[in-house]
Amino acid sequence: MEAKRDGFASKFGVIAAAAGSAIGLGNIWRFPYVAGENGGSAFILVYLGFVILIGVPVMLSEFMIGRRSQRNPIGAFKRLQPGSKWYLTGVMGVVVAFMILAFYSTIAGWTLHYLYLSVVNAFAGLDEKGLQTLFNNFHTSTMMPLFWQAVFMAMTAFVVIAGVEKGIEKYTKILMPILFIIIVILDIRALTLDGASKGLEFLFYPDFSKITSATILEALGQAFFSLSIGMGVLITYGSYIQKDNDLVNVAVEVSFFDTLIAVLAGVAIFPAVFAFNIAPSAGPGLVFLTIPAIFQAMPGGYFFAILFFFLLFVAALTSSISVLEVVVAYMVEEKNMDRKKASIISTILISILGVLATLSFGVLSDFKIFSKTVFDLLDYASANIMLPLGGLLIVIFVGWVMPLPSVVKEVSSGKKRKKIFKVYYFIIRYIAPVAIGLIFLNGLDVL
Ligand code: TRP
Repeated sequence: MEAKRDGFASKFGVIAAAAGSAIGLGNIWRFPYVAGENGGSAFILVYLGFVILIGVPVMLSEFMIGRRSQRNPIGAFKRLQPGSKWYLTGVMGVVVAFMILAFYSTIAGWTLHYLYLSVVNAFAGLDEKGLQTLFNNFHTSTMMPLFWQAVFMAMTAFVVIAGVEKGIEKYTKILMPILFIIIVILDIRALTLDGASKGLEFLFYPDFSKITSATILEALGQAFFSLSIGMGVLITYGSYIQKDNDLVNVAVEVSFFDTLIAVLAGVAIFPAVFAFNIAPSAGPGLVFLTIPAIFQAMPGGYFFAILFFFLLFVAALTSSISVLEVVVAYMVEEKNMDRKKASIISTILISILGVLATLSFGVLSDFKIFSKTVFDLLDYASANIMLPLGGLLIVIFVGWVMPLPSVVKEVSSGKKRKKIFKVYYFIIRYIAPVAIGLIFLNGLDVL
């Protein structure tokens, strides 16, 4: 009954795939605007703390559950703790996958439209006001955003149907480094803009009075979202990692690159925000306003704009396939469904929810649940509530339920990792659960 499992051939393949999942719109679109809405630097400091203290240990725990069980997130808990209710953690992961992909594809669709706009040179000669109008007219309309969202979902399904290995993995190894270089070039341009120092101050000069319990919850949610943790993507990927790969290394490297790209994106965007008088709290439109403005003020901007939006699209695609893969792996392994059928069915169901997310900037902007639009609700509930909840369950599982020898074995992979192990185990047993629990209660206004 069991199909032979696919696997990553090399450590570089593992890093590329996991970093491909982690690095995406979360870093370049979500991080700057969430930081902007939460006062900048102080938020970023809290964010960095969470990446190190909670993000890396949760990521490591997910890899361990996956490699130990050799299963998708639902199957993993069933196999490691048969007869228990732990598999519900995996079920929640599948639900969250639906929610995330629904709103993620909205923004990915915007990215495709902006790729198209940069090809036809639509930003030429537009000042900040013109760019603002362009963005507003587009993202509140109906047909264009839906069209691009559908194109993006179709591409995601196409890749997942084909299987992840030969295509996406091969290309991301080349494309992600290019994305990195483009961001560095953007950084240099942004830093030489008039008023750049204001942007840097906003990013790096912490004003602790800006920190509230809501900010802290946002920072935690952003860390989970950006690192792709808390819903089982990395359980699934962990099940493809070979036994002799060192999971500690993989988790640390992936988290490092993910954070680096987010900070570099912030450095590209905030000087421009201040130089061009855009509000730091402009929300989801922030990148779509600042990036074209920077390219306008830059030699070769036409060419770089195309490259940037193309690579942003690639980054979004390598993330979205990892989300869809969780749903498909579940349907294939647990429900014995054919891979193609599973991919098509889940893509259609997600797209229905996705239409509501996209239209919540336009015709559905007054349709609110808990005083949030569909888009905001999907974003908030998944990133700030369900991912940290998933992470909480994952660390409790590894810290308190999984037998100690299995944990030791997965962490050390033959190497002596005594000190690291002690720190890790202490964090996942005590620090992470208590921290996540407190932040929750606090941020949700229960305390
Ligand atoms: N981390 C990705 C990004 O930053 C998004 C993503 C991919 C994700 N897979 C995930 C978020 C799993 C949460 C859980 O764009």
